[in-house]
Amino acid sequence: MDLIHLDQPYRNTPFQGHHLHTRPLAAAMGAEVLDTDVRTLSDDAFDELQQALFHHKMIYLRNQSLTPDDQAQFTLRFGEFGTDAYTTGLPGYPDVQPVVKEAQTKSKMIFGGGWHTDSAFLEEPPSISLLYGVEIPPYGGDTTWYNTALAYESLTPAMRAMLAPLKVHMSGIKVVNSMRKLAKDAAGMDAMGDIQLELDIQAMIDGHFHPLIRRHPISGEVALYCDDVYAQGIEGMTEYEARPLLNFLVAHITQEIFCCRLRWEANMLVLWDNRICLHRAFNDYDGFRREMHRTTVKGERPLGLSA
Ligand code: SIN
Repeated sequence: MDLIHLDQPYRNTPFQGHHLHTRPLAAAMGAEVLDTDVRTLSDDAFDELQQALFHHKMIYLRNQSLTPDDQAQFTLRFGEFGTDAYTTGLPGYPDVQPVVKEAQTKSKMIFGGGWHTDSAFLEEPPSISLLYGVEIPPYGGDTTWYNTALAYESLTPAMRAMLAPLKVHMSGIKVVNSMRKLAKDAAGMDAMGDIQLELDIQAMIDGHFHPLIRRHPISGEVALYCDDVYAQGIEGMTEYEARPLLNFLVAHITQEIFCCRLRWEANMLVLWDNRICLHRAFNDYDGFRREMHRTTVKGERPLGLSA
């Protein structure tokens, strides 16, 4: 694939509010929110934090020191919790999901290890995800995000016009098949590495059809809604027709020019907007423990271009 040089300007400029400001992480997306404690945000400051999130698509804050209750309460400021399609949650906090890999665990499959947008097989996939670093390896275990709006903008008008009316089949079949392959017996389907799972396998496989080109309900930005984990077909097309197109779109989106990469610290809180970016966790820290706490916000049915 030819490397793309973007001739339109990157727009991941610093956000400057009255209550908070940001320092961009990369040209394509992502930023650190400076000098802010999410437990004590006024309503105006919270509003600016949301604006910063929609502007940068992924934001992070250092030194947050959050209990599961703090994280749950902060998440609820954005709206109801999203559906947790994978895990049972922490004891007493069903909506705070532990994402853990123990030092001695060696697993070919980790939670979030493929390029994805969260639980896209649901009718209403989560809008925003929040991930808090509890224990972080000394190196490795980074996460990368990819700006799917910028990826959309860099396509030719002819390609955009062809994609505009299409619906993508978002299904968990690839995850289920990978888990079945790795599971030694039926009980193996109850866990992914050290994470206890609670899955509705048939609902994951059936999934939903969503617009391949998605309009953000708040910012109005338009983005590709396609990933490597859940995008499994295109409505009205054979597998033979759809697969090369989906492969092209994933290869296009996941180029470094659309990406930011975060090196985690303990007590760091990251938020991202699933409607407008993909992400992927690295499985490169065998021998070290990594523990994260994850919450999600309920999203809407994805909107197409005509919405
Ligand atoms: C996720 O996909 O939500 C997890 C990402 C990570 O563990 O870095």
